[in-house]
Amino acid sequence: MTERSCLSIILAAGEGTRMKSALPKVLHKVAGLPMLAHVTHAAQEAGAGDFAYVVGHGAETVTKAIAGFAQNAKTYVQTERLGTAHAVLAAREAIARGYDDLLVMFGDTPLIESGVLKAAREKLADGNAVVVVGFRTPNPAGYGRLIEKNGALVAIREDKECTEAERAINFCNGGLMAIAGKHALALLDKIDNKNAKGEFYLTDIVELANAAGLKVAATEASFESALGVNSRVELAEAEAIWQQRKRRAVMLSGVTLIDPTSVHFSADTEIGVDTLVEPNVFFGPGVKIASNVTIHAFSHLEGATVASGSDVGPYARLRPGAELHEKAKVGNFVEIKKAVVETGAKVNHLTYIGDARIGEGANIGAGTITCNYDGFSKFVTNIGKGAFIGSNSSLVAPITIGDGAYVASGSVLTEDVEPDALAFGRARQKNLPGKGRELRERFSRAAKK
Ligand code: UD1
Ligand code: CA
Repeated sequence: MTERSCLSIILAAGEGTRMKSALPKVLHKVAGLPMLAHVTHAAQEAGAGDFAYVVGHGAETVTKAIAGFAQNAKTYVQTERLGTAHAVLAAREAIARGYDDLLVMFGDTPLIESGVLKAAREKLADGNAVVVVGFRTPNPAGYGRLIEKNGALVAIREDKECTEAERAINFCNGGLMAIAGKHALALLDKIDNKNAKGEFYLTDIVELANAAGLKVAATEASFESALGVNSRVELAEAEAIWQQRKRRAVMLSGVTLIDPTSVHFSADTEIGVDTLVEPNVFFGPGVKIASNVTIHAFSHLEGATVASGSDVGPYARLRPGAELHEKAKVGNFVEIKKAVVETGAKVNHLTYIGDARIGEGANIGAGTITCNYDGFSKFVTNIGKGAFIGSNSSLVAPITIGDGAYVASGSVLTEDVEPDALAFGRARQKNLPGKGRELRERFSRAAKK
């Protein structure tokens, strides 16, 4: 099976009018990743080595995006949208290279699973020339119907071409097809556009293959696998199904989600065993959580790495480049950006740490701000091992606070502090005995006048 070469042809030329968007439809995201990338990943998992993308609407934007998630990818521009077979033939040059297997997929089916693709390829290996992935639905309107006779797939009839009896069939074409490379061009070139829509229907390949005496088969997939996204309503439906699958997988892998439906993951979220996630947590792209971590409620993480034994939130915000080492603690209303919080260090309350290093075991008091930006450039704050930063301190970067140093509360520091020093960056306190009462009396007299 693995020795068979495979080309994935992904159709992504459609405009997606119903998305009502300036962004090409296939680049809309599910779990933080473009739908087209989801389809690509499924094909990669199914062993597809090379990729041909057929682009049209927003070709430049789509081509640029593809470079971000697919190697060995080539894009082909379909200038006129004359049907799915016409779209596949836009990649003629790639098909002509001679692959054992071709997988044809749509770029707007983000829930496609690699198992379905593998099953289709296995049927090609068994000697079928065409394998169609079908699904069953109580509402088949709009889909091509799979017409079977004596257990064999004889045709796919598009909705508009169906007879009354055929329209009642609920076994539908999901749009995913596997074609034996050696027969592909001969069959595709025979497809014409003499039909209700005047389009070159890829689905005609089934009848043509039968007529040529080739074997044709259908495999069945879940409805989700074929779910095509046409509007933002369907996009949200796909997202919900994706999240549900991910939550289940995460829990089965040993993570506790107290209220699974309120936790949102990204496609690349990694999370270790015995980690606990409280309700209402959002994982944006690029988050890696190790084992035995607690993520408290209402935390928002993106591009962050959290080592084991750490504690995050409630109401914490970890932005890109946040890196928590083991047993670090980031508490409520704390924002961390591009900063390392080393082993056992604590940033418990109401703090902004950006472009910084916080040394092992350091304690950052409530209301500490690293002043990292002057409106033009960003500067680094370096806090040493075991340092203590008193509450409500502003550390004006670039600045280094040495190991074991102690910063008095309310300090505004603009100069480095040497190791083990005590730094005061505030006016000294002065108490004037009796002056409080005097002042009160004066104000009271003034108010009576
Ligand atoms: C297609 C199938 C139908 C199936 C349904 C599943 C055909 C003829 N029909 O119908 O059997 O049940 O999908 O959703 O294949 N595309 C191009 N260039 C074109 C035409 C289409 O790139 O010239 C792309 C579209 O962007 C889309 C996909 O191919 O991603 C499917 O095209 P669409 O016109 O939506 O086909 P359906 O009528 O839905
Ligand atoms: Ca469609």
